[in-house]
Amino acid sequence: MFDVDEFLDDCVRANQEDKPQLAIKELIERAISDPAVLASALPPERAEITPLHASPQLTVLKVVWTPGMTFRPHNHAMWAAIGIYTGGEDNEFFRRDGPGLAPSGGRSLGVGDTVLLGGDVIHAVTNPTREHAGAIHIYGGDLFGAVRSEWDPETFEEQQYDVPAAIQYFEDQNRLFESPTH
Ligand SMILES: [Fe+2]
Repeated sequence: MFDVDEFLDDCVRANQEDKPQLAIKELIERAISDPAVLASALPPERAEITPLHASPQLTVLKVVWTPGMTFRPHNHAMWAAIGIYTGGEDNEFFRRDGPGLAPSGGRSLGVGDTVLLGGDVIHAVTNPTREHAGAIHIYGGDLFGAVRSEWDPETFEEQQYDVPAAIQYFEDQNRLFESPTH
């Protein structure tokens, strides 16, 4: 059994270590080492971006993507550690290029994979699998309170990250996935 409250306490403690990113990444690695157990504690059944812990120092999210779901380029303005327990997250990285973005490589994450992202990373994410992707995302600060950017996926025009719009987008993806024409 996976104890979510115990995991969150461990995360808060790890975030006070000298190298919090590495300590947190280790905790995620341990948590996803038995993906089925984690999936029963944090079921990946519908798209969601749910805070499990939120403070000025640390944000821990349960993130679930519907099959095929894509999320536009965005930054976090703080380090991030991510681990996958079902499905997958294909990362497309970008760098700033004039007023827009230029592609800068990618990285596919599958079940059991973790990644650390630096504070200046800009990425778009797609779940390329036919199942819901379940992941733990941990950020070294107040993700929802931070001033961040997102970019139009076609024009790469930058705008301020819109938290309510992102939450609505996840809900829209559920409706799309559950619609009879899907
Ligand atoms: Fe992200």
